[in-house]
Amino acid sequence: MSILVTGAAGYIGSHTCLELLNAGFDVVAFDNFSNSKMESLIRVEKLAARSLVFKQGDVRDRAFLQDLFSKHNITAVIHFAGHKAVGESIRTPLTYYDNNVSGSIALAEVMSEFSVKRLVFSSSATVYDAQNNLQIREDSLLRPINPYGRSKLMIEQIYQDLAASDTQWKIATLRYFNPVGAHESGMIGEDPNGIPNNLMPYISQVAVGRLSELSVFGSDYPTIDGTGVRDYIHVVDLALGHLAALQALKSCSGLITVNLGTGKGCSVLELIRAFEHATGRVIPYHIVERRPGDLATCYADPSLAESLLGWRAKFDINTMCQDAWRWQSKNPQGYGNVSNY
Ligand code: NAD
Ligand code: UD1
Repeated sequence: MSILVTGAAGYIGSHTCLELLNAGFDVVAFDNFSNSKMESLIRVEKLAARSLVFKQGDVRDRAFLQDLFSKHNITAVIHFAGHKAVGESIRTPLTYYDNNVSGSIALAEVMSEFSVKRLVFSSSATVYDAQNNLQIREDSLLRPINPYGRSKLMIEQIYQDLAASDTQWKIATLRYFNPVGAHESGMIGEDPNGIPNNLMPYISQVAVGRLSELSVFGSDYPTIDGTGVRDYIHVVDLALGHLAALQALKSCSGLITVNLGTGKGCSVLELIRAFEHATGRVIPYHIVERRPGDLATCYADPSLAESLLGWRAKFDINTMCQDAWRWQSKNPQGYGNVSNY
């Protein structure tokens, strides 16, 4: 009995594969490497001292999926495969709708064909209304403002309809807040292509000398120090949330939607200070204009995750920074430099 992981070689997928292997699950994994490298999963196997089954393939390829389901005894699926860059989704929306939405439909069709109806799906806090400045609950207003976010909401709605049409489906859509950090070994972590869009990998690359200075996008938000506040969550906590969701689905029916966050907001300046404190590095920065599309504050009400999944985040900002730095300093070029292992 195996768990199928789509997009397994990516940032969150690789950490989740490791936690699945550590917990004793057999894992069948695939990725098309559009945003990742095989090296991440090679390291996962080393860390777990166990193998997984890996195939290269695309989630939109029904014949590829049918082959996987016919050859392996898959009992549930964790679905990470998708594109995730907001700016790119605005420039090439059809690519995003095709990859994210069509891929999620193809996956559910083939699962249905093989009567595998337990699914955990990666959604995002980006589906919520950007104007919401309060702690965000799962029933807060939904209003994504870019094609990436809309693709996630569309998939949620498609899966909602699917679960309503057939009571055998058990689906968890997990809305992640801001995943950061890395496995404590420093062997796997986040390896963005080009210049990072997100704050933590940007800070780490400044610290390691790949980038010279951080631009802080706006200091006039109505927040504790004027900079944007987010709910950063350690990627290992997030990975464990998927194991908790898999378990919870055994006794739930239909579709459940759950926030995965810590419930604590942290501003950009607070994160810079925490990183400096955790690593002893100085992060040079200057304040620039707000980034279009950014919101002031976004943090989770994580109480449903605790009551429904029995899960809560346990790592604090200090650990997130230490682990992000361990990964970055051991792998200054990410998986591009594989000679360390
Ligand atoms: P990632 O890009 O590191 O991982 C996604 C993986 O999916 C990559 O390895 C990529 O090569 C693969 N992939 C993409 N399209 C594919 C396809 N058609 N077929 C097979 N594989 C494909 O991203 P991540 O940060 O690990 O995110 C995983 C999921 O979580 C994504 O769906 C993302 O939208 C969602 N999410 C991420 C964040 C975040 O900040 N990292 C936040 C909220 C939600
Ligand atoms: C971004 C995405 C969101 C996605 C999330 C994943 C945008 C508009 N939103 O959200 O859809 O779900 O990543 O984690 O891209 N910041 C700086 N300087 C930087 C980078 C970021 O000051 O170089 C600030 C931002 O203004 C924000 C905070 O840091 O206040 C966090 O930014 P980021 O890591 O990009 O995450 P989100 O904006 O939450």
